[in-house]
Amino acid sequence: MLSSTRLDGIALVVGGASGIGQQAVYSLAEAGAEVIVLADLNEEGAIATAEESKQYASNKNYRTATFKVDVTDAEQVHGMVDFVVREFGRLDYCVNSAGVDNGIHAPVADTDIDNFNKVQDVNSKGLMLCVRAEAAAMRKQEPRTFRGRSGERDIGRGAIVNMASANSFAGLPGKMSYTVSKHAALALTKMAGMDHASEGIRCNAVCPTWVQTPLLDIEFQKNPQSYAEMSAVVPIKRAAKCEEVSDAIAFLCSPAASYINGTSLVIDCAVTTTIRLH
Ligand SMILES: NC(=O)c1ccc[n+]([C@@H]2O[C@H](COP(=O)([O-])OP(=O)(O)OC[C@H]3O[C@@H](n4cnc5c(N)ncnc54)[C@H](O)[C@@H]3O)[C@@H](O)[C@H]2O)c1
Repeated sequence: MLSSTRLDGIALVVGGASGIGQQAVYSLAEAGAEVIVLADLNEEGAIATAEESKQYASNKNYRTATFKVDVTDAEQVHGMVDFVVREFGRLDYCVNSAGVDNGIHAPVADTDIDNFNKVQDVNSKGLMLCVRAEAAAMRKQEPRTFRGRSGERDIGRGAIVNMASANSFAGLPGKMSYTVSKHAALALTKMAGMDHASEGIRCNAVCPTWVQTPLLDIEFQKNPQSYAEMSAVVPIKRAAKCEEVSDAIAFLCSPAASYINGTSLVIDCAVTTTIRLH
């Protein structure tokens, strides 16, 4: 492992109870985070994940805490960030992975407004509330430095990584509500990276296509057509493993990424680079 990809600070993983967020907890633990706070609506899942993460942790002082949060509620989100800073003194890395899918696929003309509102509420407004509270806490703390081969450099006050999607760049038929929310997630990432760069806060996004979460496995079993669609489009004919996304998240949090800000890493095996003819 490059020394610049090692972590040693305090992490908050929002949506850490399952899926990509859960794997982000494991990747951050493996990379050396000292503390991980797992925040989620699903408190039981967060507690189980926190326990499980101990087997991957490489920091001898590793510890975890959980916090029940609904990211659509500004007060709860503020309370979550407050909790981390109060209990652990600072907030070095934030991973924002709470999100919901589109639900029933429908063309734009048949959009269900309640569903549209729910998806935006969690994926765009909820994400914005998280980034807002996290950046507000980070800007108050002292910046840190890292000693690399070329000497010491400023690595800023903190790093935020948002879960966006390949749908931040392209659409899938029937997934307008989700696609709109993920375009918003990328816009928010650019704005936060831009607005807070001079304060030493980095904000980036990861943008995967299909990721093999337990939910996706169920979807593939229930609907073989959706598996066929994925393998028709993905050149290597498989979904990404969760850790192929979460290890990239850990990298974006690390000193190795100290000059990467306001941008996104597309993790899609080249799906979005071209129109596939076969
Ligand atoms: N799985 C994929 O193929 C894929 C691809 C691209 C992007 N993403 C994005 O990655 C993120 C994680 O997705 P996942 O597949 O791991 O899903 P998941 O359902 O396994 O995890 C999402 C987590 O967010 C939590 N959550 C949902 N609403 C919440 C709320 N209001 N407040 C707090 N927590 C809430 C859930 O309890 C859950 O633990 C999402 O933003 C999703 O859009 C997923």
